[in-house]
Amino acid sequence: MDIINISQRIKKIENNKDYFNEVIENINSSDAIIWAFPLYVFLVASQYKRFIELITEHSIEHVFKDKYTCVLTTSINFYDHTAHNYMHAVCDDLDMKYLGFYSAEMMDLLDEDGRKNMTTFSKNFFEDIKSNVNTAKRYIPITLQNFNYAPSINHMKRDKNSKKLVIISDSNNNDSNLSVMVEKFKNSFNGGIEFYNLNDIDIKGGCLGCLKCSYNNVCVYQGKDGFIDFYNELKDFDIVIFAGSLKGRYLSSKWTPPNNFFI
Ligand SMILES: Cc1cc2nc3c(=O)[nH]c(=O)nc-3n(C[C@H](O)[C@H](O)[C@H](O)COP(=O)(O)O)c2cc1C
Repeated sequence: MDIINISQRIKKIENNKDYFNEVIENINSSDAIIWAFPLYVFLVASQYKRFIELITEHSIEHVFKDKYTCVLTTSINFYDHTAHNYMHAVCDDLDMKYLGFYSAEMMDLLDEDGRKNMTTFSKNFFEDIKSNVNTAKRYIPITLQNFNYAPSINHMKRDKNSKKLVIISDSNNNDSNLSVMVEKFKNSFNGGIEFYNLNDIDIKGGCLGCLKCSYNNVCVYQGKDGFIDFYNELKDFDIVIFAGSLKGRYLSSKWTPPNNFFI
C-alpha cells in the first residue's frame, strides 16, 4: 500500500509537473484509493481540497473512474458528516465505487474497541473489493448551466446606516457571474463598500494544524505573509459579506482550511 501525503506536498504537486504526473501515475496503477485526512473546520484541509480541484483542472477524472474507494478520518466527530458527505459526493462525481467511511474520534484508536472497529471496517473494505461488489451512487451529478447574470433593474440605493460593510471574494475573472453580482451589490449602497479579493492577499499556506497558536495566540505564519494583517483589518467592519463560487461542491480551496480564509 502506498501512502501519498497530498496535503504536505501540495505546493510540489501543484508546481512540479513531473511530480504531479508521478502522483497521478501512482493512483492510476492502484486498484483502490483510500481518502484519509484529519477533519479541519467541517471539511478536508484546503491543501486536500486543492488536490481535488487539480483533478478537474487537469481533466484526469478518468484516472479515478471505477476504482473502489473509502474514506478514513480522524476528528472530534464535530460535523464530520459534512466532510464525509462532501467526499462521498466527490467520489460519485469521479465515478468511483464508494464503499463507505470510517470516522474515528481522535482518541478512538487508543483503546482496543476502537482498534477492533477500524480493523473490521478495513476487512469489510478489502473483502468487498475481492468479491467485486456493486455500488450505487448517492448524489445527483453536477450539471453546469450556461447562464450569464445580467442585472437590469436599477433599484434605489440603500443607506448603510453608518455600518461599515466589506465584501470578500475569490473571483479571478471580472466577467464571471460572481464578479458581476458583487459589482451590483457594491453599487446598491450609498457611499460604496470596501472590497477584498483573496487572490490579492499574500497567503503563503493554509492552517497546518500545528496548534502553535494555542500557546500564545500567534500563528506560525505571523510576519511571513499578509494574512494576519488582512484578518486584523476585518475587525474594523460591522458586516462581512462572503462572495464565492462553488467549485466541485464547495467553495474553492482559497476559502477552505489551508490557503484558506476560514482558518
Ligand atoms: C484547525 C483545526 C480545526 C479542526 N476542526 C475540526 C472540525 O471541524 N470537526 C472535528 O470533528 N474536528 C476538528 N478538529 C479536530 C481534528 O480533526 C482532530 O484533532 C484530529 O484528530 C487531528 O488529526 P491530526 O493530529 O492528524 O491533525 C480540528 C482541529 C484543528 C487543529
